[in-house]
Amino acid sequence: MQDIDKAMLSADDWDELNFPRPEENDFDRVVERAISRRGFLGGALAFGSGAAVMGAGLLGSTSAEAMVAASRFPFKPIAIQTDFEIHVPEGYSHHVLARWGDALFSDSEGYDLTEGGPVDGSDRIFGENTDGMETFSYQGHELIAINHEYTNRKINLPAGQDGVPANAGDVLKLQNLQGVTVMEVVEGDNGWQVVKDSPFNRRIHHNTPMKIVGPAAGHDLLKTDADPTGTASLGTLNNCGSGKTPWGTYLTCEENFNGYFGATAEPEVTEKVTAGFSRYGVGTDGWGYDYHKHDPRFDTSKNPNEPHRAGWVVEIDPTDPESIPVKHTGLGRFKHENAEVVLAADGRVVVYMGDDERGEFLYKFVSNGVFAPGGSTEGLLDDGTLYVARFEDDGTGAWITLTPESTGMDAAEILIFARQAGSAVGATTMDRPEWISANPHAVEAYCCLTNNKNRGMKPNAGGDETPVNGPNPRETNKYGQIVRWRPHNDDHAADTFDWDLYVMAGNPDVYDNVYGGSDNVNAGNLFNSPDGMAFDTNGLVWIQTDGDDSNEGEFAGHGNNQMLVGDPVTGEIVRFLTGPNGSEVTGLAWSSDRRSMFVGIQHPGGSWPDGEGLPRSSVIVVKRDDNGLVG
Ligand code: FEO
Ligand code: CA
Ligand code: CA
Repeated sequence: MQDIDKAMLSADDWDELNFPRPEENDFDRVVERAISRRGFLGGALAFGSGAAVMGAGLLGSTSAEAMVAASRFPFKPIAIQTDFEIHVPEGYSHHVLARWGDALFSDSEGYDLTEGGPVDGSDRIFGENTDGMETFSYQGHELIAINHEYTNRKINLPAGQDGVPANAGDVLKLQNLQGVTVMEVVEGDNGWQVVKDSPFNRRIHHNTPMKIVGPAAGHDLLKTDADPTGTASLGTLNNCGSGKTPWGTYLTCEENFNGYFGATAEPEVTEKVTAGFSRYGVGTDGWGYDYHKHDPRFDTSKNPNEPHRAGWVVEIDPTDPESIPVKHTGLGRFKHENAEVVLAADGRVVVYMGDDERGEFLYKFVSNGVFAPGGSTEGLLDDGTLYVARFEDDGTGAWITLTPESTGMDAAEILIFARQAGSAVGATTMDRPEWISANPHAVEAYCCLTNNKNRGMKPNAGGDETPVNGPNPRETNKYGQIVRWRPHNDDHAADTFDWDLYVMAGNPDVYDNVYGGSDNVNAGNLFNSPDGMAFDTNGLVWIQTDGDDSNEGEFAGHGNNQMLVGDPVTGEIVRFLTGPNGSEVTGLAWSSDRRSMFVGIQHPGGSWPDGEGLPRSSVIVVKRDDNGLVG
């Protein structure tokens, strides 16, 4: 164990270090499933794999000629890159809009290129490691709400500490650099810029007061020293993907919240809480943030219920900087990636959500009430039904309701321990559900299943076996795939759906089998680990990656992480942008006139974008040189 470089561990690897999974030992069963998988995929491969085939199943036949003629990409796709720059197609340009450490207010201190910034004022600057974002147009103002998922301890704490907080001030600085920024932006002669001191500018961080609402609010498991009522919370943790409601609010999704908690003594807790800690990866050491050593709120031996106040979807009104963010328990507690909100045929609110961990589940919430423009939105993200997905190998699937009858759990605990509820009803274990996006031109939704090296090898954190299954058809899946589903009756509220794989990433230069990828993967668009995803108004799907950018071995030819764009009808996928080496491309939103695209670059390498000093996570703007529409 001592040999592991913990700085290199992924979120899931941290959890498996703290909570080792038993190796699968039922090899006969794994092999048997692999054979039956050949039967399933075999039929598909006979026609050509991936989107072309599956597309024929879902979408009707499309001739190759028509596919070419129908290409809707108004640019020449770009090649892979391995450098520390951003590349976009000819006829497009980009510039940096906001960098980690940029002042949002004129009274905040400037950024130090060698050490970051001071503790004082660290809650008044653009935070680190941007992720999901959404744009809002309000009374003539353009607003961006954007997540700051995590922080790099080594480059934010004084040199020599090796990323270990020495005191409460160090912890406070880390807490301030994460969370959410709301900022006003404006386009002028020098392109888009942040409006410093705008009354809309706001930082939300790990200590910002929040409300807890919905069916689990007030439950004993949510009561803490800081809030004995169980209806309030401090801060939002590990803000990953995003969402936007039809009534103009921002949704920020708490993902790997567990890593911030630790214990200075063995917690004395009930069996139920212990089981929850185990399933959600809340351990005694955490992931090295060491909050628990300097801030008792994060010490589970003192505040065992504090982790239950995280892992939710949080609603923020970006137009009112005084508004109190709201944690919606109705949407369930897990490691939320994003929250894709659509309306059902009758106006009910449907929220699709993924739980990003190896072998965890896909969820859907359907409200009881309907959305009416200008009407009350009370309860639309809490009063309703939470479902979990079960996919069948025959291309069908069903949303299984999580109720006391189906799970044997009480209504509030179903939400607080949604993972255990999903296991109780036999939900399909997935290859790490990342972003979900719904096609505005068809009643269908897509989900990036980024990768899962444990598929067929180890159970999930709850002990559910993870044999290869329909939408997760490859053992030790290093490349990832995108599954899509079309609800029956063209209604997102329907209990059943048909599904197929839009693309299986791979490397056809290395593998002559399913690891080579589906037919819409070719020498011109190689990528791995699809993660961020958003549809534009034209019905094209933009895909961002967070994968292996070594450009070697199984990943040779993949280059840096990137953003591609796909045509859901033809299956065609082309490369639009490459990020700096070391970075993940994540977060995508458009200006209200659709002539600018905002793209997030998280944890870049080198000295990007300043060309000297520390690399800085940033948001860039991409435009056409002729100021044409970009989505
Ligand atoms: Fe924060 Fe699953 O990505
Ligand atoms: Ca992600
Ligand atoms: Ca990822």
